Amino acid sequence: MMTLSLFDEEENRRTWQEPLCEGALVLRGFALEHDVAILAALQNILTESPLHHMVTPGGFRMSVAMSNCGTYGWVTDRSGYRYAKIDPERGQAWPALPELFMKLAQEAAAQAGYQDFLPDACLINRYEASARMSLHQDKNERDFTQPIVSVSLGIPAMFLFGGMQRADKAIRVPLAHGDVVVWGGSARLRYHGVLALKTATHPLVGEHRINLTFRKVS
Ligand code: SIN
Ligand code: FE2
Repeated sequence: MMTLSLFDEEENRRTWQEPLCEGALVLRGFALEHDVAILAALQNILTESPLHHMVTPGGFRMSVAMSNCGTYGWVTDRSGYRYAKIDPERGQAWPALPELFMKLAQEAAAQAGYQDFLPDACLINRYEASARMSLHQDKNERDFTQPIVSVSLGIPAMFLFGGMQRADKAIRVPLAHGDVVVWGGSARLRYHGVLALKTATHPLVGEHRINLTFRKVS
């Protein structure tokens, strides 16, 4: 075909890549095309395994409400951070990782240059106004050759993307509904976090931000 369809032109306008550093980039609008289906799948997952505010090893209630889907789920309590096959709230396995989530994560990883990404865990974070996530590394996974794929939905947030030390200066990356961040390779262990969210309303998600982070744990 000589020309792109109207639909493709529309998608091209809404989707572009923004490098953050070697190994890391933002795929702007990458999840937009499937937002309604992603949110519908998410609703089923959260009916089965509801969000709740976990407690840090230091005894603080996290401002972000969490759940998981996939073989493994990230959990925290007084005894520490870890991945678990059983949802401690229900004593049962986490809901399955939907095919749509798998495809989205794999395609985003491939766009960023990471082929054959096969996530076995998806952490679901729900932020409300003033919720935040302090700088941390994702380092409970076994294989750091596998990237992290992070999907943003709902109200906007300011993502912090730092260096290999907590004290390194972090850049501020505004993330909107549909944006996907991928970091791997030499960027895999960079510190990252999210500033306290401002009050806002999103037409599909309401007063929340949902973040899905896909990981290969085992
Ligand atoms: C995370 O690091 O688990 C969450 C990052 C985000 O919410 O964008
Ligand atoms: Fe993280």
